[in-house]
Amino acid sequence: MAKMYINPNVECGKIHKEIQGHFSEHLGRCIYEGLFVKDDSGIDNVNGMRTDVVQALKEMKIPVLRWPGGCFADEYHWKDGIGPVEKRKKMINTHWGGVLEDNSFGTKEFMELCRQLGCETYINGNVGSGTVQEMSEWVEYMTFDGVSPMADLRKENGNEDPWTVNFFGVGNENWGCGGNMTPEYYANEYRRYQTYVRHYPDSKNPNKPRIYKIACGANSADYNWTDTVMKIAGNYMDGISLHHYTITHDWSKKGSATDFTKEEYYMTMKGMVFTDELINKHVAIMDKYDPAKRVGLIFDEWGTWYDVEPGTNPGFLYQQNTMRDAIVAGTTLNIFNKHCDRVRMANIAQLVNVLQSVILTEGEKMVKTPTYHVFKMYSDHQDNTLVQSSIEKSKVGVGDKMVDDLYESVSKAEDGTVTVTITNLCADEERTIDAVITDYPVSKITGTVITEEMHACNTFDNKDVVTEKEFKGFKKTENGFTLTMPACSVVKLTLKK
Ligand code: AHR
Repeated sequence: MAKMYINPNVECGKIHKEIQGHFSEHLGRCIYEGLFVKDDSGIDNVNGMRTDVVQALKEMKIPVLRWPGGCFADEYHWKDGIGPVEKRKKMINTHWGGVLEDNSFGTKEFMELCRQLGCETYINGNVGSGTVQEMSEWVEYMTFDGVSPMADLRKENGNEDPWTVNFFGVGNENWGCGGNMTPEYYANEYRRYQTYVRHYPDSKNPNKPRIYKIACGANSADYNWTDTVMKIAGNYMDGISLHHYTITHDWSKKGSATDFTKEEYYMTMKGMVFTDELINKHVAIMDKYDPAKRVGLIFDEWGTWYDVEPGTNPGFLYQQNTMRDAIVAGTTLNIFNKHCDRVRMANIAQLVNVLQSVILTEGEKMVKTPTYHVFKMYSDHQDNTLVQSSIEKSKVGVGDKMVDDLYESVSKAEDGTVTVTITNLCADEERTIDAVITDYPVSKITGTVITEEMHACNTFDNKDVVTEKEFKGFKKTENGFTLTMPACSVVKLTLKK
């Protein structure tokens, strides 16, 4: 039996709701078809936004959405996506699939989507192929409330009031698709570009939040990038990003999303739990330059990346999602929670129809993936206080593909309710846990679980194979609880005094 310790009186930081953020890119069928449909599609929509998808995302409590990329961001020229739709420029999406991009989803449409979702906005600007003026004018167009060329242009386009931009990314992957820059070069460019990402006060909204400026961070374990950018530009940013994808083999053979061996399951787990080491190392570098932890680590691209589904456009990156992905999501969110003193936001890639998506669509059909159910389950952690917890771990796996079996995080809401989430990575054995809670006399425990055999997935014909179900496999004890976690499972317990 694994021992677990929880002390709700030792508070370890705020779990910002944005840790459960998402990412929408002009890639494959994410924006077009997945989120935004044309009038002649016959699919229910409000101002082009799919009603079924918006409803599901609201139920999941989506806190923030990043847009328009990804690699697409550093090729995106925002003026192509404003004004009358029929006059907008048509172009080829050179990065993703070489398909026509008609710019019918632009700034106004993104803001409308976020309005319907009730979520915050995270815009990613173009450094790679855009100018300082272009970036500066976009911010002016979106957020300025006075008389100015860009505010006037917005009004001419039918949007009298400015929008709120909560987060702004100054470039994306500028070490790669965003311009192949060195960290020194990017850091200096960042200092220049961010100068003109202005905060425009709004007379009608005195509490308007300042734009949170995010510098492009490292590719996975490129610690030199973080070190150099923090050294040169750390004082000019609110956050620095980090991208890390979980691939099963390597970039030339990423493996199938649905057809995998037990060994491959543990390879995926190994790639995913590396997230913890990555964060520790990047945070140690950030601590050197920012010991007060003012700058947030923004993990704005993460998730599993497999080979595309057979027969689909390789440039669309469309993949299915199984119980294996649910374990990846639950464990990663537990890891992020544990680092909430530094991880300010994270955005899984991508929202609909791409990598580790929470929703898949096919024409008018929609299905919620196992990953969706994990995000919905974990939404109780949003804006809670992380409290001290630990769990005894043992190794599980195949051959040299060994990982720790249990990952947990525990948070406390303002009303004292405690939320415990635990993942059991072991593919085929249950785990029993004996939890001791310090100074918290529990009067009531309720639970839910997501569990199935590791290959299980939700399809358009069979939508509810993997869902969140009521869980009764726990017992209250004198000073806590015992619990039996099914193999390959994500469990949430809600404790009340
Ligand atoms: O998520 C797909 C791509 O992965 C993004 O466009 C890019 O930022 C990253 O390389």
